[in-house]
Amino acid sequence: MNSFIPGKIIIAGEHAVVEGELALVASIDRGVRVRVVEGGQREFGKDKKGLVGRAIEIARGDESIGVEIESELPVGSGLGSSAAVGAAVIRAVREHLGKPINKEELFNLTMEVEQLAHNGKSSGVDPAAVVYGGLIAYRKGEEIKKLQMPRKRQVLIVLTGKASESTGEMIEIAANNPEKERIFGEIGQVVEEMRARLVVGEEVIDLINKNGVMLEELGVVSEGARGLAEELRKMGYGAKIAGAGGIKSGAGVMTVWGEDFARAKILLDNRHIKYFETIIGG
Ligand code: PMV
Repeated sequence: MNSFIPGKIIIAGEHAVVEGELALVASIDRGVRVRVVEGGQREFGKDKKGLVGRAIEIARGDESIGVEIESELPVGSGLGSSAAVGAAVIRAVREHLGKPINKEELFNLTMEVEQLAHNGKSSGVDPAAVVYGGLIAYRKGEEIKKLQMPRKRQVLIVLTGKASESTGEMIEIAANNPEKERIFGEIGQVVEEMRARLVVGEEVIDLINKNGVMLEELGVVSEGARGLAEELRKMGYGAKIAGAGGIKSGAGVMTVWGEDFARAKILLDNRHIKYFETIIGG
């Protein structure tokens, strides 16, 4: 059985979503493909937290079931790798067992795997994005709402480098900011306005930048990523990290918003910074 699950980018609202604010999230055209192999290997070399084994267990696969995983998502970069691997493994194993799974159940089971990756603090935004796909407005504990945009948007995804901290650690850092209640409240307002604008096809560059600066104030963005975002903003782009962030080394992915990415690409090529384009919504 072959199962493909997409990765995701958080458009806005990360960290604040853990405390109940709204987040906007979209699946991307890269993801994880999983194939079940009978009698396959049960040692998954790079799987330090044991996500794959746990996902097989959750899907009630026995010792005879192994999986092969092909992923286009760099681990620990904010592209939803852990949720996508969890969901793809669970779905492939369930189909292999002749017990196909619906989205609601897949979301709930993926959440269990995701809690391993996020030290029990996941808001559920990643499992929601990768299981339901498309563009989603997500609030913890509420029904998942799919959004439609009048036009598709091209977004540049920049790889600022893998974070040395885990998502769980980054959530902890954000939660310890003495100003967190004010910052989360402000992020929540920006996200509400962004949702209203996206669904009518209006520009959101200024709001992307507002949210980006708030994440910097929250303390989850490395110096390098902060500097890069500032340069891109001066060129007229919207730039913010997407996901948990990182401080000591990379900050994971950064999304860049605008109509024409030619000048941004020259800057990134000159710095040997990797990026790719993706299309969201529609
Ligand atoms: O999966 P990441 O590392 O992109 O981060 C998820 C977003 C957070 O808001 C930081 C955590 C969560 O579960 O909502």
